[in-house]
Amino acid sequence: MGSVQPKIKSKVRCVDGEVGEVAHVIADPLSLDVSHIVVRANGTERQVPVSAIGAVRDDAVQLTCNVAQFSGFPELEREDYVSSKEVEIPHLEDRIRVEPGEVLVPLPVLEKNCARRSFFAGFIKVIGALIGLPLVWPVLRFIMKPMYVPYDNHWIKIGNISKIKTDDVGVQYIFKKSFKDSVLEREEDKNHWLVKASPETLKKIYRHGDITFYDEKGAVVWVNNQTVPYVAFSGKCPHLGCGYKWRSHKTRGQVFLCPCHLSIYDATGMVLDGPAPRSLDVLPIKVAASGDIEIIDVEYKAGKKEQVRIA
Ligand code: FES
Repeated sequence: MGSVQPKIKSKVRCVDGEVGEVAHVIADPLSLDVSHIVVRANGTERQVPVSAIGAVRDDAVQLTCNVAQFSGFPELEREDYVSSKEVEIPHLEDRIRVEPGEVLVPLPVLEKNCARRSFFAGFIKVIGALIGLPLVWPVLRFIMKPMYVPYDNHWIKIGNISKIKTDDVGVQYIFKKSFKDSVLEREEDKNHWLVKASPETLKKIYRHGDITFYDEKGAVVWVNNQTVPYVAFSGKCPHLGCGYKWRSHKTRGQVFLCPCHLSIYDATGMVLDGPAPRSLDVLPIKVAASGDIEIIDVEYKAGKKEQVRIA
């Protein structure tokens, strides 16, 4: 049936019912005749030889087999074919017209496993990956940051103790911190709170002894000595990370108050009220003889009962 040219999307009928529609045609590359039609039926594509075609009409292809026999035709292995759009086969388009569909031509057996073909496919993939890597690297770094970036343990000067006039009163220190995210360098306004603790307050803050800070590998970075009365609290509320203030409370006196969900902390950082799961986070602090204050801007995960360092 060298002249069979079923239209793409034509209905395909067996003697006992419709089974699908024409998805492609397959051409014999030597004779340039249609050798098979590919019928899409219930999510599969089966190759039906033209010898099984009884008639081709305008909108339908009639097969000579029944539905059960149709199910025995092999499924199309698309990788074993190239399309007339991928390779130019002289005179093929003159002989077979299936627009807007495509004519498939079997790959020669040797070509299927051709090392050269695989080599070039692999080569193109590697080159593509090499070209694309610089573009996606910043994104990958950003995503993977928590997994491999060491914590930032550098000391930041945030001000001088001369600003603190009274014991057990929260004093805010605002400073700028530089960040390097992927390729961009940026500065961010940050703030922490300091308390010059009275002996009683200091005792409560250091009720478990000196406070030790660790890096991501568990090595000690710094120890806050309990004899130093200056205590720095992270400016982020441990509940969900909002900024809090030092405020007068009508029943509790002077407290740290978080406006987001109304957690209240005393001057020792302990939770007096609200949903906060833990006390305010104490930061590593150094006070020079000149009164200059340096801290390490340690960050802990919000919402956890225990401190989980994240930066
Ligand atoms: S974030 Fe501070 S109480 Fe919720």
